[in-house]
Amino acid sequence: QINIELDEEVREVAAGKLKIGIYFATWWALNVVFNIYNKKVLNAFPFPWLTSTLSLAAGSLMMLVSWATKIAEAPKTDLNFWKALLPVAVAHTIGHVAATVSMSKVAVSFTHIIKSSEPAFSVLVSTFFLGEGFPPAVYLSLLPIIGGCGLTAATELNFNMTGFMGAMISNLAFVFRNIFSKRGMKGKSVGGMNYYACLSMMSLLILTPFAIAMEGPQVWAAGWDKAVSQIGPNFIWWVAAQSVFYHLYNQVSYMSLNEISPLTFSIGNTMKRISVIVASIIIFQTPVQPVNALGAAIAIFGTFLYSQKDERAIVMRWSMSMQAKK
Ligand code: 3PG
Repeated sequence: QINIELDEEVREVAAGKLKIGIYFATWWALNVVFNIYNKKVLNAFPFPWLTSTLSLAAGSLMMLVSWATKIAEAPKTDLNFWKALLPVAVAHTIGHVAATVSMSKVAVSFTHIIKSSEPAFSVLVSTFFLGEGFPPAVYLSLLPIIGGCGLTAATELNFNMTGFMGAMISNLAFVFRNIFSKRGMKGKSVGGMNYYACLSMMSLLILTPFAIAMEGPQVWAAGWDKAVSQIGPNFIWWVAAQSVFYHLYNQVSYMSLNEISPLTFSIGNTMKRISVIVASIIIFQTPVQPVNALGAAIAIFGTFLYSQKDERAIVMRWSMSMQAKK
């Protein structure tokens, strides 16, 4: 009897591990595909404001169709929900467009190395804006994150200030997005997938006028013709891929949180960046100096240390998963 129970327990643990493994593999794979196509598009068509808008548009359209065809149940929302979502959407829009602007100016790997320091931003914002204190070990883990990123930036062969600042602004914006989300989700019953869908729609509305003002239909049309003449008709599939995969990886990451703890999520997100950094360096043959790689390794190691010490950076997504479970 005891043996049978033990067997079942072992099987359950193994099944749980397999499930998490599948979630992570899907999340990282979708994210790698997004990053590759996003960069391919940006290389041929350097209009990050439009490509960011198209990512949000694709996600919004996919979710509206899913609701209309009852593939997914539409959320029940009220005015208060949308009011609480507004600051989240503003931060999400800034974080998204800033990351895309960054990737249009520098190597994908460089953007993601800088983005691996997001936990450091979380700690600094919480300390200086929210007056929260952390154990000394958390502050100490910031040293390798900041030092590693600094070393990578200082030795980056194709350093570009807009690219660097874009990744930094994205970090800051996403920290605020997480803080606002946490507040906005309190007591609401919209699950992770639908919350992210509503976020995409509101961000789309916010971003569209800015994209028109920053770039505009005339430059888009000229850029599009040039890209199609260089790449061929396949260019449209690249644009479709970057847009659809952007939504899919975000959706899987939000949905997978129903199954994993904040700590697992934090480690998963760092591992995701490692797979993107490695894949993009191979695919785009990005030149990397040993000291540059050392900086990235130190920064990522610091993020691992941080995730052992603090779980706050991902509390927004976790609170959403809790809502989804209810
Ligand atoms: C974006 O375009 O929003 C960024 O690439 C997001 O990056 P992240 O989801 O890896 O933080």
